[in-house]
Amino acid sequence: MLSVHLSDPPEAGCLSYLRSLLSADIQLTLGDDCPEHVVFSPHRGGDSAESERMRMEQELQIVREQLLQAQRMESIGQMAGGVAHDFNNMLTAILGYIELAQGELDPQHRAYQFLESAIRGVEKASEFTRQLTLFARRQPMQIQTLQLNAIIQEALQFTQRWLPANVQVRTFLAEDLWLIEGDASQLTQVLTNLFLNARDAMPQGGVLTIETQNVVLDQDYARRHYEVVPGEYVMLSVSDTGIGMSPSVQKRIFEPFFTTKPQGQGTGLGLTVVYSVVKQLGGHIWVYSEEGRGTTFKIYLPRAAHESLAPTLAVPPAITTERGSETILLVEDEADVRTVAVEALRARGYTVLEAATPTEALQLAQENK
Ligand SMILES: Nc1ncnc2c1ncn2[C@@H]1O[C@H](COP(=O)(O)OP(=O)(O)O)[C@@H](O)[C@H]1O
Ligand SMILES: [Mg+2]
Repeated sequence: MLSVHLSDPPEAGCLSYLRSLLSADIQLTLGDDCPEHVVFSPHRGGDSAESERMRMEQELQIVREQLLQAQRMESIGQMAGGVAHDFNNMLTAILGYIELAQGELDPQHRAYQFLESAIRGVEKASEFTRQLTLFARRQPMQIQTLQLNAIIQEALQFTQRWLPANVQVRTFLAEDLWLIEGDASQLTQVLTNLFLNARDAMPQGGVLTIETQNVVLDQDYARRHYEVVPGEYVMLSVSDTGIGMSPSVQKRIFEPFFTTKPQGQGTGLGLTVVYSVVKQLGGHIWVYSEEGRGTTFKIYLPRAAHESLAPTLAVPPAITTERGSETILLVEDEADVRTVAVEALRARGYTVLEAATPTEALQLAQENK
């Protein structure tokens, strides 16, 4: 008989998750003190070869499932990336034509306002594709050395106005938290998505708990989790006391467009982005959930190789709407996007040479030396 002792009370959903990992001949006992974490230490006693074999088999099965999940996300990601790219081109063209049309109108004209509304629609659609490209790894990351606690504070401030008064926020942020490497704006998006999902899961109010800790994942942990490399990680956990999820929902939450929310409320892209950003940073994400009790997301991000924070990036220069008289060689394969860009540049006084291919561009450059 193998017995597993939980020295701390389990977090939401953790208990059933643990049970699912353990076979029937393993006993689960709970300790009585009360820190933040689930620590469980197997006390082996009379471990027979048979139960050892069963344990190995179970571990293998779990890793297999994780592998399948990763492969599925990868292929969906590639597909989504292709769609998003084409879609973005169309949106750019639409937006461009709307702006050109506005340029022909007096702002007092009724149609001008209609076009304003059309622009807002396009902006929404382009936010949607932005999330898709983020997921499909088509957006370059701005990797910096970061202090996750600071990003959490920022994201919380940003999210606060969407959190109703009956949602209480508790933070347990480790003071000596190791640095990580990541893209600050993408990590902010990860946190925002998790916080807002937690809010949605607690329509009657509840507690949102955010916690960070330094953890070392060992060989044994790595063996039981797909793609985990042993080493030092920064752990982030986001828990709510909300409605929780059924096992069948849990299986699909990272899929793009999977949502259980009413139309117009959910895009089903939030967790897809979370998953993708975490994976790109060499991290891991696990979910524990129990229906009616709540959900905990745990994210592990590798500790940064460097010890010091990167200097804060300078504010990017504001986009100016200045005019110019220079000649611009514009290369764009999408005809509509090209037309719009050419029109916009010409309207600002530039001379524009347009090319659809690099070969054409080189030729034009030769001719116009
Ligand atoms: N904290 C949570 N509690 C319960 N269910 C959740 C939680 N977070 C995510 N989910 C489930 O996962 C689904 C997908 O989440 P997400 O990808 O963020 O898309 P969306 O929020 O647009 O539905 C949600 O519709 C919900 O069913
Ligand atoms: Mg969401």
